[in-house]
Amino acid sequence: MAPSTLTALAEEKTLQSSFIRDEDERPKVAYNQFSNEIPIISLKGLDEIDGRRAEICKKIVEACEDWGIFQVIDHGVDSDLISEMTMLAREFFALPPEEKLRFDMSGGKKGGFIVSSHLQGEAVQDWREIMTYFSYPIKARDYSRWPDKPEAWRGVTEKYSEQLMGLACKLLEVLSEAMGLEKEALTKACVDMDQKIVVNYYPKCPQPDLTLGLKRHTDPGTITLLLQDQVGGLQATRDGGNTWITVLPVDGAFVVNLGDHGHYLSNGRFKNADHQAVVNSNSSRLSIATFQNPAPEATVYPLAVREGETPVLEAPMTFAEMYRRKMSKDLELAKLKKLAK
Ligand code: SIN
Ligand code: FE2
Repeated sequence: MAPSTLTALAEEKTLQSSFIRDEDERPKVAYNQFSNEIPIISLKGLDEIDGRRAEICKKIVEACEDWGIFQVIDHGVDSDLISEMTMLAREFFALPPEEKLRFDMSGGKKGGFIVSSHLQGEAVQDWREIMTYFSYPIKARDYSRWPDKPEAWRGVTEKYSEQLMGLACKLLEVLSEAMGLEKEALTKACVDMDQKIVVNYYPKCPQPDLTLGLKRHTDPGTITLLLQDQVGGLQATRDGGNTWITVLPVDGAFVVNLGDHGHYLSNGRFKNADHQAVVNSNSSRLSIATFQNPAPEATVYPLAVREGETPVLEAPMTFAEMYRRKMSKDLELAKLKKLAK
């Protein structure tokens, strides 16, 4: 039976069985064994004509070809806003369970609070609590599903989501140019870009070696901007999961992940980053993922097919259809694992 919050379970000595993963899925590298392999790229000078733009673009392209992940600093997002957003998010997760459960998302509600993930029927649960809310397009905002405590969080989120939308658009311009397309190509391919914020709270875990905070996955959308605290736990792989590295937390940086949509638009040249999050028994961890997704009706199909390449997709489909197929495939796999137990 799925727990409704992790508050009580985090105090136990052993891990509840619903979180225990098969051996092949368990963490291979510790949460604080950091690697500096993922490039950290300064965006200073990106907008200056004849400035550093070409150099920055080159670094981003290399990172996307190798990993589908890089970190950005000097990105222009207000550092006080970042601190406020993190502080308010932490305050939310410290509220008593009944307060968080006022936003309970189980039962198919769009946005709110839940343990593990919004997907129903998973074989093993993720050791995390999440708060999700939809921030763009503005007309689709449902403030009744946005947290109302701490009180300041709504206003801060509005500012944060706007600045992150700005940063995402700049990065999409660079990626468009890198694909040999006009600057606006990727934002146009998203039609009216969606933005969804998922705040992840990973409490201290009694047996972190047996579980994951967030199972291995690729993000479905175009790009994700992830803010993480200094604890560590985000891991990436570029060889199909044989080896993992723990991404070095950099204060105030955003980790940029390329998602499936970005990967398909580049005709597979840019990787959709395979990643997961591990947990630990020393401290809780917070991360805030901002997903920049195409509109549901946007067409998913390669924009940049180079000479001699064949398109990685047989036929165009809508993003809604791509998402549906991805989720049902994941769920099928999870059910097969459950049956095999
Ligand atoms: C995510 O993949 O959405 C979050 C990963 C993390 O918490 O580091
Ligand atoms: Fe992710």
